[in-house]
Amino acid sequence: MKLARFLELHRPDDRALAAEAAAGLLAERARLSPKFLYDPLGSRLFDAITELDEYYPTRTEADIMSAHLASIGATVLRHAGDRPVLVDLGAGNCRKAARLFDAIRPRRYVAVDISVAFLRESLDCLQREHPDVEMLGVGLDFSARLRLPDEALGGPAVVFYPGSSIGNFAPDAARRLLREARETAGGGALLIGVDLVKPTDVLEAAYDDALGVTAAFDLNLLRRLNRLLGADFDVRRWRHVALFDADASRIEMHLESREDQVVRWGGSARAFARGERIHTEDSYKWTVDGFDALLREAGFAATAHWTDAERRFAVFVAGG
Ligand code: AVJ
Repeated sequence: MKLARFLELHRPDDRALAAEAAAGLLAERARLSPKFLYDPLGSRLFDAITELDEYYPTRTEADIMSAHLASIGATVLRHAGDRPVLVDLGAGNCRKAARLFDAIRPRRYVAVDISVAFLRESLDCLQREHPDVEMLGVGLDFSARLRLPDEALGGPAVVFYPGSSIGNFAPDAARRLLREARETAGGGALLIGVDLVKPTDVLEAAYDDALGVTAAFDLNLLRRLNRLLGADFDVRRWRHVALFDADASRIEMHLESREDQVVRWGGSARAFARGERIHTEDSYKWTVDGFDALLREAGFAATAHWTDAERRFAVFVAGG
């Protein structure tokens, strides 16, 4: 029986992570990368977020994909040709890509995530369901740079980047990542999900839900910092804030200090005044025209897109 193969190109290094977190906490305006949100509990809380009434992106993207699977698949294959390599960025449990297998019939599936540990079980399971597809798991932090080893590629690829994860990148960084995705596709196609601009109340509810799941997801970052740095954050002295900045076209998530306090770790300390915030995530929202222009700036010559009836979310295919 065929077995999935794995490559670890990125050693998750706790010392480097701790240094990065400490620098973020000591900055004049404290800020941390959203990657710190995804420890084991954080990943489960994110899964729970995708089930919330207020959090429409996951559900809307899945509806668009299933309603238009045939035309999306045909458009992708027009660029990439028959039996392409399917590259899944941020693959996680691989379920979203698995839904594409019948439409795209990839010859090889390359699942990329920050750690191969996330990919082992799901890829082994998928390999049993699709014994004819060669499977490779790659551990890589592509937020810094997307570049796959030669053995992963070969011929045109379909680069799949769902979930509006591109929203975590500011426009310049997003353009850079899209350019690298185009290189990776090697004349194939990019299939990407993008969350769209909409009224502020809808956006803010999606990032500050009634059940408090997103608040728990955000606050859990403090527990992560306590473990990583040996810090003494008291979660009860913080609250979650989500605000839409219309000028920057992004949702910002922050943790706001409920009182004057000092947080300590190792030999360091940081005082927070009541109301002072730690910026934990940006989630950029695009218009269809704005994202189309970004794809073209990244070098793609051909684009197509599909949206839901309410134009909440868009799925783009880009090639050329
Ligand atoms: C995983 C980056 C797409 O921005 O909507 C969800 C993360 N943060 N709720 C998003 C998230 C709070 C999510 N992405």
